[in-house]
Amino acid sequence: MFPIHRPRRLRTSDPLRRMVRENIVTTNDLMYPLFAVPGDSIAKEVKSMPGVYQMSVDKIVEEAKEVRDLGIPGIILFGIPEDKDVEATGAWHDCGIVQKATEAVKKAVPDLVVAVDTCLCEYTNHGHCGYSEVGDLSGRVLNDPTLELLKKTAVAQAKAGADIIAPSGMMDGFVQAIRSSLDEAGYENLPILSYAAKYASAYYGPFRDAAESAPQFGDRRTYQMDPANGTEAIKEIELDIAEGADMLMVKPALAYMDIIWRVKQATNLPVAAYNVSGEYSMVKAAALNGWIDEEKVVMETMTAFKRSGTDLILTYHAKDVARWLG
Ligand code: PBG
Ligand code: ZN
Repeated sequence: MFPIHRPRRLRTSDPLRRMVRENIVTTNDLMYPLFAVPGDSIAKEVKSMPGVYQMSVDKIVEEAKEVRDLGIPGIILFGIPEDKDVEATGAWHDCGIVQKATEAVKKAVPDLVVAVDTCLCEYTNHGHCGYSEVGDLSGRVLNDPTLELLKKTAVAQAKAGADIIAPSGMMDGFVQAIRSSLDEAGYENLPILSYAAKYASAYYGPFRDAAESAPQFGDRRTYQMDPANGTEAIKEIELDIAEGADMLMVKPALAYMDIIWRVKQATNLPVAAYNVSGEYSMVKAAALNGWIDEEKVVMETMTAFKRSGTDLILTYHAKDVARWLG
């Protein structure tokens, strides 16, 4: 017997395949991460992330123009401060590096969405995402004192002109704390993109070179999620939704596509996926060795994010993807 059902009928030509294609990546789906450092005309490539640079504010502005010209709707800013301390002063100070970069970009490229990472790890002398008492070598990161610092940070970022506040430290109650501080300061229309399901992942390794934020003691497993857990991600997003999150993020992306899918099914909010540093570096390393076709592999991955339910992709490949899409 010959088969009656022949799915191959719809694969016989390119236009036919395009007609029945279910998921398409567009430049509108992308957000590009940038790392701001103090100084002038600095563009220092991150060793473990070929094509990614730490940039001074003037260079960030140039880069932001290029990103806008490529049709990418937004960037997300991270900062590397001059000094790191126990209070994470560089995070919440009005003259903090992210605040400076935000102001400069919004002035030069007002039609680009500027999201800011709202966390302390780049600014604490111990590299943790929260407050830890001086000399507390047990590595305890204190939740509620961290919320106070995050509230100040978000308001300073809002004042600088940020369009999206993106808290990434996985502290309990951080969305509610930030929402109330923004509302009190008159920023009730500023959206929060919560890193709602962020796992304690080895895929962040290269980012910690880029952001100079590796923890000096212990690890992040008391606040970031256990990679073995899936249902817990739903609990995390439910809490963030109840606390007033406007968008939710799953991070990392590739090894967590089941989580993206489950989160998308569980909410009507836009879902973002962070295609993190280690995911980028692996592809780059293989591509530079000539072992894979970079464009094909990256586009396949981006399409897979869309298929898994991702609305917004944060990726270091964003500029390349925009160029390939033409
Ligand atoms: C910090 C933060 C991290 C990333 C984004 N924000 C790293 C971490 O938790 O150590 C990772 C991004 C990447 O790997 O590209 N809260
Ligand atoms: Zn952090």
